[in-house]
Amino acid sequence: MMFPLRGLRGKVVGEASGKVLEIGVGTGMNFSRYGDIEILHGVEPDPFMLKRAQQRAREVDLTIELVDAGAEDLPWPDNYFDTVVATWVLCTIPEPARALEEMCRVTKPGGRLLYVEHTRSRGPSAQRMQDRLNPLWNRIAGGCNLNRNSVDLIRDSGYEELQVKACGSEDWTLLPVYRGTAIKPA
Ligand SMILES: C[S@@+](CC[C@H](N)C(=O)[O-])C[C@H]1O[C@@H](n2cnc3c(N)ncnc32)[C@H](O)[C@@H]1O
Repeated sequence: MMFPLRGLRGKVVGEASGKVLEIGVGTGMNFSRYGDIEILHGVEPDPFMLKRAQQRAREVDLTIELVDAGAEDLPWPDNYFDTVVATWVLCTIPEPARALEEMCRVTKPGGRLLYVEHTRSRGPSAQRMQDRLNPLWNRIAGGCNLNRNSVDLIRDSGYEELQVKACGSEDWTLLPVYRGTAIKPA
């Protein structure tokens, strides 16, 4: 991701604990940033990304199990994970509401979602620009949607106690970034 946002990975991922699921691991850029967790499971449907992630998984001192799967259909039982991690991924998942339903299903009651995501802009002119750019952006950025409101999607999911922190400027930006947590109700 963008250079000024690089430090965010460690801040988000470093809070994970216990049994962890990372959604859409990409090339595994988060792996070296986890702290003392029990195990990391990850899903990634893109074969090229998955291959690179598997290489990265071998380079870190962490038990990592990677699965070729999409977040809309997670191969784990209910209430399995202490933490679910999503970094810049809800923008790309074809069915994000269904993915969040699945993510919440596999989270233990009281378990946490940790996220950092870019979202729809706040101002109407920036929103119009996002809508105009999105078809091209989507093609060149691997299916990413510039104008998707990922934070609202989390707010409308089964997770509760949503915390949202703006990362950098919220105005006049086509790529406002937010990070935070949400909790599966007990
Ligand atoms: C912008 S990349 C972010 C990768 C990684 N999370 C990171 O922070 O570097 C978006 C990722 O979402 C993955 N993705 C696409 N569809 C998905 C789905 N249905 N379920 C899970 N991940 C998906 C893509 O393959 C890609 O790796």
